[in-house]
Amino acid sequence: MTVSLVTGGAGFVGSHLCDRLIADGADVLCVDNFFTGPKSNVSHLRREERFELLRHDVTIPLFVEADRIYNLACPASPVHYQHDPVQTTKTSVHGAINMLELATRSKARILQASTSEIYGDPDVHPQPETYTGRVNPIGPRACYDEGKRCAETLFFDFHRQYSLEIKVVRIFNTYGPRMDPNDGRVVSNFIVQALRGDDITIYGDGQQTRSFCYVDDLVDGLVRMMHSESSVTGPINIGNPGEFTMLQLAELVLRLVGSKSRLRFMPLPIDDPKQRQPDIRLAKEVLGWEPKVGLEDGLVETISYFRRRLTQS
Ligand SMILES: NC(=O)c1ccc[n+]([C@@H]2O[C@H](COP(=O)([O-])OP(=O)(O)OC[C@H]3O[C@@H](n4cnc5c(N)ncnc54)[C@H](O)[C@@H]3O)[C@@H](O)[C@H]2O)c1
Repeated sequence: MTVSLVTGGAGFVGSHLCDRLIADGADVLCVDNFFTGPKSNVSHLRREERFELLRHDVTIPLFVEADRIYNLACPASPVHYQHDPVQTTKTSVHGAINMLELATRSKARILQASTSEIYGDPDVHPQPETYTGRVNPIGPRACYDEGKRCAETLFFDFHRQYSLEIKVVRIFNTYGPRMDPNDGRVVSNFIVQALRGDDITIYGDGQQTRSFCYVDDLVDGLVRMMHSESSVTGPINIGNPGEFTMLQLAELVLRLVGSKSRLRFMPLPIDDPKQRQPDIRLAKEVLGWEPKVGLEDGLVETISYFRRRLTQS
């Protein structure tokens, strides 16, 4: 019997990961403090005997048994991680220490959900894993970016110092069902605005680009990484390299929703990166992974989720 612990398991990505692990036959312990992930994201799993849900804050040490630990606990959208920046840094740093110590005690493999924010506002494009980034350490995004950078440092130090088996994945923008409609992320923002007929808010001139990975593709990458040979530590980028301007994304969403919303231009937030695109050659080579779901198909699934959700509320 293999016990997989998922911190942040009630969140957007974590809940899909729990679904996948249960489907794969694992016992899953989902640990969450429900700060940004509602219990309803995993309520359908409570019928499963192999699924357990534990309310716990990862900034506090945890004493359980696990074979594999997926460390996803951390608010991921600027609205949420800037709400209590000190707690965000604590979640990344103290949370990483607590989970790494748990992995050391249980002799578990541990995977860190790191982020493309490690690269900051990059001057290398697309970003390979060897790029060390351009992050402002004192700006309003630093609690997240630097917290995640420090977590990576801790992972590699535990690996070097205690021979712990680590897996570090740098996740690029991911979207899909169960995103929070109010968290200010661009895909959910555009879809919700289009469905409600509200103006679509575009920051800056809308020419900044992002790449968008559908959540099922990301989860497949996380699972492949966890099962990779012990010599594979990462960091490995997981994301969809298809690059779109914000204007292109807005037009696609408007077309798929069939909405007549208009575009409204707003000033660009501080330290907002102009371009972000993963270099995924390493993921292809080492994990045999590449994204399969195109933006249009993924958006259709996500739009139908939000349509259902908005009619329920
Ligand atoms: N979604 C993306 O595009 C993306 C991109 C890069 C990295 N990531 C990383 O992936 C992980 C999951 O992101 P997500 O999009 O699902 O975000 P999310 O906010 O939906 O999920 C995070 C989960 O962590 C929980 N959490 C927060 N602080 C906690 C704490 N102190 N103790 C226990 N639980 C806590 C939240 O309640 C939530 O359920 C995060 O670590 C994030 O940094 C996500």
